[in-house]
Amino acid sequence: MKTDTEMDIDSEEDQKKLLMQQEITIVKRMSHISHKIAVMSGKGGVGKSTVSVNLAAAFALENYQTGIIDVDLHGPDVPHMLGVENAILKQSPQGILPVKAMENLEVLSIEFMLPVKGAPIIWRGPKKTGAIRQFLSDVTWGNLDVLVIDNPPGTGDEPLTVLQSISPLDGVVMVTTPQAVAGEDVRKCVNMVKGLNIPILGIIENMSGFTCPHCHEEINILGKGGGKQLAEELDVPYLGSLPIETGVGKTQDQGKPFILENPDSEISKKFIKIVSKIENKVFNSKK
Ligand SMILES: Nc1ncnc2c1ncn2[C@@H]1O[C@H](COP(=O)(O)OP(=O)(O)OP(=O)(O)O)[C@@H](O)[C@H]1O
Ligand SMILES: [Mg+2]
Repeated sequence: MKTDTEMDIDSEEDQKKLLMQQEITIVKRMSHISHKIAVMSGKGGVGKSTVSVNLAAAFALENYQTGIIDVDLHGPDVPHMLGVENAILKQSPQGILPVKAMENLEVLSIEFMLPVKGAPIIWRGPKKTGAIRQFLSDVTWGNLDVLVIDNPPGTGDEPLTVLQSISPLDGVVMVTTPQAVAGEDVRKCVNMVKGLNIPILGIIENMSGFTCPHCHEEINILGKGGGKQLAEELDVPYLGSLPIETGVGKTQDQGKPFILENPDSEISKKFIKIVSKIENKVFNSKK
């Protein structure tokens, strides 16, 4: 019979083996995905999920086989924004299958795994890291051209796990608002990404100005220009700005990306310009 200490050593070794196996599986799974882009911000509520969903929808519209993964364990908004919040995950012999949201676009979110809708996730660091790594190792995406990863705010367990587990990442799209208070938090996030030698694809300034639909006067609700200034200061590319538009919240509630619903709106036109800048950086004008 083994002593407690021997059993501890065994279970520690088993744990290490399991982690190594998981690592190998993640590398294998990720090798079927040509490009990986993380969307991040040091600040909450600045539009990361909005940018992620519309970026993924724009890629899908251009016939790129696209996946989007929502690693926001505490506030998984992507399924609702794509109208698939009630989907149930299915299993294949190769692993868990992501949910189809539209032609060329598949989604994976912790939301699909909750036993009860609306149940909160109350996990500490290691459990969160474990859940994300399991996500990455258990799901079979097949061959994808691009995977977009929507992150929760800050520099905590979830973004750090993404940056360390998904390798190589093509880069990070950083979202901010024009406010200095957002800029301060985003600066920390940029420095974390730089510290891990991962490229910053650029900064997007969201909620940048608002044109009144009645009098057409422009009102700078949160100011303007903070994102560009931050990009210059941190010596990272600036991708452009997106205005506040009243239709954004409504289309999201209906589970539809705004670029598909209102392709001629000012925000969609600006977004498409940003997408083409990202494509030039990531796909190198291939395809
Ligand atoms: N340009 C915009 N115009 C109008 N509303 C917007 C715009 N961008 C985002 N929103 C709204 O702002 C809110 C926050 O956006 P979103 O959920 O994308 O932010 P987030 O950074 O992902 O938030 P969290 O930090 O909670 O994950 C949402 O209600 C969204 O509809
Ligand atoms: Mg979000």
